[in-house]
Amino acid sequence: MTTDRYGQANLNLWNEWAIIHEKSASYDVEGFKSGKLSLHQLELEEVGDVSGKSLLHLQCHFGLDTLSWARLGATVTGIDFSDKAIEIARRLSCELDIPATFILSDVYGLPDVLDGQFDIVFTSYGVLCWLRDIGRWAHIVAHFLKPGGMFYIAELHPFAYVFDDEADTPELKVRYPYFGQSEPLEFEGDGSYAEPETPVSQRVHYEWDHRLGEIVTALIDAGLRIEFLHEFPYTVDGSMLPSMQLGDDGYYHLSEGDGIIPLMYSIKAQKLA
Ligand SMILES: C[S@@+](CC[C@H](N)C(=O)[O-])C[C@H]1O[C@@H](n2cnc3c(N)ncnc32)[C@H](O)[C@@H]1O
Repeated sequence: MTTDRYGQANLNLWNEWAIIHEKSASYDVEGFKSGKLSLHQLELEEVGDVSGKSLLHLQCHFGLDTLSWARLGATVTGIDFSDKAIEIARRLSCELDIPATFILSDVYGLPDVLDGQFDIVFTSYGVLCWLRDIGRWAHIVAHFLKPGGMFYIAELHPFAYVFDDEADTPELKVRYPYFGQSEPLEFEGDGSYAEPETPVSQRVHYEWDHRLGEIVTALIDAGLRIEFLHEFPYTVDGSMLPSMQLGDDGYYHLSEGDGIIPLMYSIKAQKLA
């Protein structure tokens, strides 16, 4: 499990955020309970039909996306290191009678607590910045995939993280390095991306930068064949950069310079037999 001070701070924060997010408007748990899916059009189209497939969801938070894949016919297993998130996910699964297995585990400890291999390994939006070692992560992805199985990630683009997210003008200003460092960046703040106004007691957290080349190369080194890498000039996270605007397409765009930089990407890969 998580033992170092970075992981412990992040775990404390995610435990607080899980409780806050369950009640937040943006996660819309009531909408989910009434039958809506929490998945975006992007991953629905790019992952495709999951019915009858086994799906492992890494860093599943409190399970809405995992349970959405179950609603679409997959046999799902979600894992997350936050005990509060897993508690909520299990409660929702029972309450809504959507079969799912939720496992409390750090990504890196998962091979010690979970057996088997899956048709699909899925993860999305705001996951890799919490992980120190992308090479190890990619090997864990490969470990849990059946030969021929599919890995899919939709994620916030690391290039967009170089800009000042606290600026008070929409003008893009470089603030952070693109080329990652071994020590994480320390952030201090009040609220989460979903509930910026709700304060938390764990005020400091840590994130690791991973450039796109590092992520793709790690997947290839782990034995996966990349089928595509798509980049998009819009995102699901309206707090990623200042003054983002929600477009008619349901994604957030830059209010100035819309279309000029990548804000999210997706990768589909196959485990070689
Ligand atoms: C931004 S959320 C995932 C978002 C998800 N797409 C959603 O909106 O429901 C990131 C998740 O990663 C989990 N997490 C962070 N570090 C982790 C680690 N080392 N092992 C497992 N889970 C971790 C957090 O608890 C959190 O639930």
